[in-house]
Amino acid sequence: MDMQEIAARGLVLLGCGKMGSAMLAGWLEGGLPASSVWVIDPNPSDWLQGTGVHINAELPAAPGIVLIAVKPQMMGTALPVLQSYGNGATLFISVAAGTSIATFEDVLGAQSPIVRAMPNTPAAVGRGITAIIGNTHATDTDLNRAEGLLKAVGQVVRLDHEGQMDAVTGVSGSGPAYVFHLIETLAIAGEAQGLPAELAMQLAKATVAGAGALAETAEDSPSQLRINVTSPNGTTQAALDVLMDDDDGFPALLNRAVAAATTRSKELARG
Ligand SMILES: NC(=O)c1ccc[n+]([C@@H]2O[C@H](COP(=O)([O-])OP(=O)(O)OC[C@H]3O[C@@H](n4cnc5c(N)ncnc54)[C@H](OP(=O)(O)O)[C@@H]3O)[C@@H](O)[C@H]2O)c1
Repeated sequence: MDMQEIAARGLVLLGCGKMGSAMLAGWLEGGLPASSVWVIDPNPSDWLQGTGVHINAELPAAPGIVLIAVKPQMMGTALPVLQSYGNGATLFISVAAGTSIATFEDVLGAQSPIVRAMPNTPAAVGRGITAIIGNTHATDTDLNRAEGLLKAVGQVVRLDHEGQMDAVTGVSGSGPAYVFHLIETLAIAGEAQGLPAELAMQLAKATVAGAGALAETAEDSPSQLRINVTSPNGTTQAALDVLMDDDDGFPALLNRAVAAATTRSKELARG
């Protein structure tokens, strides 16, 4: 479904906080007319009110897509509003972490096409990555429609089964926070070596952003890029000897961190 088709049938957005706003901004920039969007949110932001979309207004009878972007703990109160669209032609897309497809099927009906998605916050600058998986009732067309919509805020990848969602949450869903922490700690480490705080932070931010951009666009793998800048017995190697330590280096640390996030995602899914 392209933006024109979505515009014709209408799109309902349930919950317009950080993630909902980032997506809505992407759609409006991508040409979706504000008049074809209905937002349900108890406290619409100033930005939202300035977009010209319908806010907490009477909803269309059969929207093409309903996108669910409320917090998982609000799902119980928020979802029943959408029940009348269940078991019909409306495609439901949820970006809520930890809420399973089965939970949506219970409330909305198992005949509803449902796509569960896990985006991440770089969506706010159009550089997110979203993993998607459909329920048995979601067709290829439904998945293509979901992908088309989510591409407004970055890349989209498809999963083979819903069980992969917990590990995706541990890598890309929660991952931006790991990188923010890398920036913080790189800057503090620079300060410890005598740099002024502001300069250290500027160096850290630009280094992470620049290396990320290079890793994404270069033909070489990240491992090769690392090898390319590591001369034997040079400065980089001195640091990498610390970071690549088998016992307490990056590999062991990130493995534990991602495992902890994945485990927590499974726990949240169990409620
Ligand atoms: N942020 C991320 O990095 C990220 C990544 C992946 C997935 N997600 C998922 O995206 C979803 C939204 O996260 P977020 O960070 O955007 O949270 P958020 O900023 O708190 O946004 C949720 C919005 O829903 C509104 N809301 C609450 N109850 C509602 C109801 N009954 N009906 C309609 N709207 C209601 C909230 O209003 P009030 O603020 O007034 O309560 C808020 O504006 C979550 O399920 C989360 O798991 C987020």
